[in-house]
Amino acid sequence: MKIGIVGAGMVGSAAGYALALRGGASEVVLVDLDADYARAQAEDISHAVPFAHPCRVRAGEYGDLEGAGAVILAAGVAQQPGESRLSLLSRNAEVFAKVIAGVQGAAPDALLLVATNPVDIMTEVALKASGLPPERVIGSGTILDTARYRSLLATHLGIAAQSVHAYVLGEHGDSEVLAWSAARAGTQPIADFAAQVGAPITDDVRARIDDGVRRAAYRIIEGKGATWYGIGAGLARIVQALRDDQRTVLTVSAVTPKVGETRDVALSLPRVVGSAGIVATLMPDLADDETAALRSSAAILKETSAQLV
Ligand code: LAC
Repeated sequence: MKIGIVGAGMVGSAAGYALALRGGASEVVLVDLDADYARAQAEDISHAVPFAHPCRVRAGEYGDLEGAGAVILAAGVAQQPGESRLSLLSRNAEVFAKVIAGVQGAAPDALLLVATNPVDIMTEVALKASGLPPERVIGSGTILDTARYRSLLATHLGIAAQSVHAYVLGEHGDSEVLAWSAARAGTQPIADFAAQVGAPITDDVRARIDDGVRRAAYRIIEGKGATWYGIGAGLARIVQALRDDQRTVLTVSAVTPKVGETRDVALSLPRVVGSAGIVATLMPDLADDETAALRSSAAILKETSAQLV
């Protein structure tokens, strides 16, 4: 599958690099306003290909996106230290209007995979601007938060992250919801498993893991200015599910008809992802406080996106 990436900055290039290493694409085309920078990133990534899987990596213009099965939208400004993702909205919405016009001029049917923050609202912006069906405009959403959550739980429990089934829902941001009540390890609820292995999930453990997930990006941005490896790998994971019609359950963002009293809001829920895009959306059974937090997250996102009209 040919993959386009608009925005050759650290997130877009990390996604290209992860795709090359993972073998998720037959061709990756990087498009950026700074053509020289895109060329340099593409050439650098192409030097990793001989150590990985065959993949043609190049820089190009929008016209070079023709035939792409999916285009990753990673263009825009990134958070500054201490800045929330939602505060980037107006600047990045302007960028997207131009970007989506360029993409659709060359690849009108390509699935759009949104990475730019605030990713949930940018997913809504991309859906409206593209006119594509909702299932073909996907935001990376909380795929990275879910990975962080599973990794921290796995470390606490002393097991592989692949054996932990836990999800982060709602906004990819400050109002996200760690679905503790639905978290499982092996065949058991996480609290039971934790007690059985002698690693109880106390209130302190729960608070530490919540902070470890919710504040991860802020900490990394304080230290190195931005995050890119985690999200790059998450984007490559979504592309793999698209390319191979894997029908994997991933917490990705898409415009969802109704969450509580909020309508047509993009946020993350467990969704089945395959070659058609989003094949199904699952509304998990949650504890009352988690349901309330998810509805609050939806309302915050809708209220923020209303600022754009
Ligand atoms: C993060 C960015 C992708 O959470 O929002 O690292």
